[in-house]
Amino acid sequence: MASISVNHLLGIKDLQKSDLDIIFDTAVEFKQVINRPIKKVPSLRDITIANVFFENSTRTRLSFELAEKRLSADVINFSSSSSSVKKGETLLDTVKNILSMKVDIIVMRHSSPGAPHFLAKKIDAQVVNAGDGTHEHPTQALLDTFSIKEKLGDIEGKKVVIVGDISHSRVALSNIFALQKLGAEVKVCGPPTLIPKYIEEIGVKYEADIKKALVWCDIANILRIQLERQQAANFPSLREYSLYYGVNKRLLDSLDKEIVIMHPGPINRGVELDSDVADSDHSIILEQVENGVAVRMAVLYLLAQK
Ligand code: CP
Repeated sequence: MASISVNHLLGIKDLQKSDLDIIFDTAVEFKQVINRPIKKVPSLRDITIANVFFENSTRTRLSFELAEKRLSADVINFSSSSSSVKKGETLLDTVKNILSMKVDIIVMRHSSPGAPHFLAKKIDAQVVNAGDGTHEHPTQALLDTFSIKEKLGDIEGKKVVIVGDISHSRVALSNIFALQKLGAEVKVCGPPTLIPKYIEEIGVKYEADIKKALVWCDIANILRIQLERQQAANFPSLREYSLYYGVNKRLLDSLDKEIVIMHPGPINRGVELDSDVADSDHSIILEQVENGVAVRMAVLYLLAQK
């Protein structure tokens, strides 16, 4: 049986291209499973997984939980907002206490970049990064690239533009690593104040003009402005952001070509993306969410084999 090269899923940066191919092949099989009348398999029957979320989430937390249940794992859920973290307990103490209840895999979201890497060094259980601050969101990039592959076939040679708040986005960085490993060309587009200074050093070009970026690409992945992570005012107002970088039907109609629209969610409708695009045939946003379950099943299954 094919095996991935890592014991934890901390970031896309650590993965080989062959790991991505194995995860995708496994996800194709699990997508068939979850579309059957009986959506469960016994693959992780003796495994216990804790979903440990120190930050808010809708899609990622529910998608992991469903993936775990479809694989017949035992599941416990921890949310810091209703936990003893509020009484001063540390991350490591919290996780060590959870592990003493015989947990095998920790799926963790945390606001600090590197928190899952720290944990992986300190504990015996396997760690899956469900988003660490502005750093990486590896399963989001896996489900995004899986969805592109499903929609357009091979990713090699495809042109992908990521639009929006690149500086504060873990989705952007993980997508850039995944797309580059799979042979896509990647550009970013957004206000210069929201583009990291190192972007060209990692082989990504910057395009300031949204129309030029969309004319160039096959796929546009539109990101939310992460106001909760911004220390300073990086642009005058959301209204002005929307005017210059918002994607709407009028803009798409002016391109004279068809492009695929993606968004990791949550969408701020009327800011980065209008409803007439988000809900149109161009959009694969809900397919991304559907594929998230199969991709996370594949990741958990392959890690548990180690
Ligand atoms: N895409 C994503 O990470 O969404 P949530 O924050 O709702 O999990």
